[in-house]
Amino acid sequence: MRKSVVIAGGTTGMGRATALARIARGDDVTVIGSSDRPLPGARFLRADLSSISEIQRVAEAITEPVDALALFANRARPKRRETADGLEFTFALYYLSRYLLGHLLKPQLDAAPDPVIINVAGVGTKAGGINWEDPQMRERYSMIRAQLQAGRANDLLGVSFAAQGHRARYVLYHPGFTRSGLDGHENPVTRGLLKTLARFFARPVAESAMPIVDWIDNPPAAPLTAIDRGKPVPLTLRTLDPADAARLDAYTSGLAALPRLP
Ligand SMILES: NC(=O)c1ccc[n+]([C@@H]2O[C@H](COP(=O)([O-])OP(=O)(O)OC[C@H]3O[C@@H](n4cnc5c(N)ncnc54)[C@H](OP(=O)(O)O)[C@@H]3O)[C@@H](O)[C@H]2O)c1
Repeated sequence: MRKSVVIAGGTTGMGRATALARIARGDDVTVIGSSDRPLPGARFLRADLSSISEIQRVAEAITEPVDALALFANRARPKRRETADGLEFTFALYYLSRYLLGHLLKPQLDAAPDPVIINVAGVGTKAGGINWEDPQMRERYSMIRAQLQAGRANDLLGVSFAAQGHRARYVLYHPGFTRSGLDGHENPVTRGLLKTLARFFARPVAESAMPIVDWIDNPPAAPLTAIDRGKPVPLTLRTLDPADAARLDAYTSGLAALPRLP
């Protein structure tokens, strides 16, 4: 069946591979990215997803029912940056854009027969956590801590979204080390090192994207599914704690810059 698929962060890497596979199946694919890299056969919405107003703009441009929302957007920042909304960049792009797209597109997802959201991050990883005292990392910023915090925030986003009883099923997916995302690192030394490691140890992009392509055809039945490199993650893992998920949801929905959600 022809699906309507929205891919946030679909211009490169696993998002692009997912987009190409779904275009080849005849789907209506919408790709969102900040660079000018439209994909033949897809609608392209250029937007900076670290900006709340830009997220609102793309959500408003998507008016049709959405069968699948696949979330890939991320970029590592060695130095702390603040967005125009006064938020730490990694928190805004890697976590908040996914929170907002899931909630703002709720009517479009609810209008589809069998909707699914697939959040590609690092579920199953126990390192890192929410820095509750300082979620915007004004003190002691590091790229790794910011990435780990946003990764764990996405884990908790899946838990709270599923607990809220939306029609869309939620899939948290950790693809494992993949030959993608390597050009996104600003530091040339880090970039070179990662590329060398990737040549020997990383999975091909299409292989990591394959389960995502399949979930779009066959959304899991459970409200929340977590898969780490092909293996189910028990939902009892401490990084998926429902109390932490509710706490993060309360913090996020209380952010002053947030728009009204449907
Ligand atoms: N690669 C791995 O080994 C690995 C392992 C585990 C988890 N993951 C996770 O998997 C996801 C996808 O990774 P990938 O390797 O496919 O990365 P990637 O190739 O770097 O793709 C990232 C996507 O995010 C988009 N993006 C970046 N900044 C943006 C912005 N400000 N606004 C809108 N879009 C933006 C990029 O598009 P533009 O450049 O057009 O903005 C690109 O399409 C990430 O969340 C990553 O953390 C990756």
